[in-house]
Amino acid sequence: MEQTFIMIKPDGVQRGLIGEVISRFEKKGFYLKAMKLVNVERSFAEKHYADLSSKPFFAGLVEYIVSGPVVAMVWEGKSVVATGRKIVGATNPLAAEPGTIRGDFAVDIGRNVIHGSDSVENGRKEIALWFPEGLAEWQSNQHPWIYEVLLCRSAI
Ligand code: GTP
Ligand code: MG
Repeated sequence: MEQTFIMIKPDGVQRGLIGEVISRFEKKGFYLKAMKLVNVERSFAEKHYADLSSKPFFAGLVEYIVSGPVVAMVWEGKSVVATGRKIVGATNPLAAEPGTIRGDFAVDIGRNVIHGSDSVENGRKEIALWFPEGLAEWQSNQHPWIYEVLLCRSAI
């Protein structure tokens, strides 16, 4: 199934939003496949946001990401990249819809709480960058109650 890279940025960690973020992805019906709380090296943050290196806000963005620990996660599920972006909300929190994480919990674009991969391909690259050690192998017992797969009484 499809996977995406989700990161709770340092402001999300400092503000006690880790549980809230995990809860939203979990309740939706996506599966957590990897998670770690880490302090990010400057060079690593620059690599993660390499596509934005020419932007005027790049230095501030890197400063923000290295300012405290982040929670790096891999979530799996049907269409999890696009749906994950919907759960996260628009980049500018003032434009993000209420009900999205950024819409509910953030004000400034430079303190927008969470990152989500913007394509399946970038998701793959980000997962490889952040989790070279690989992901956890497991399958939720709830799977047939969330996804339309064959319900087999003996397997549940
Ligand atoms: P991420 O999920 O973090 O990648 O955000 P995004 O995909 O919604 O936006 P994008 O990749 O374009 O920008 C990455 C991050 O850079 C944003 O989440 C913001 O934290 C920051 N950023 C983007 N645009 C601006 C800007 O105009 N000003 C400032 N200060 N920060 C910005
Ligand atoms: Mg982005």
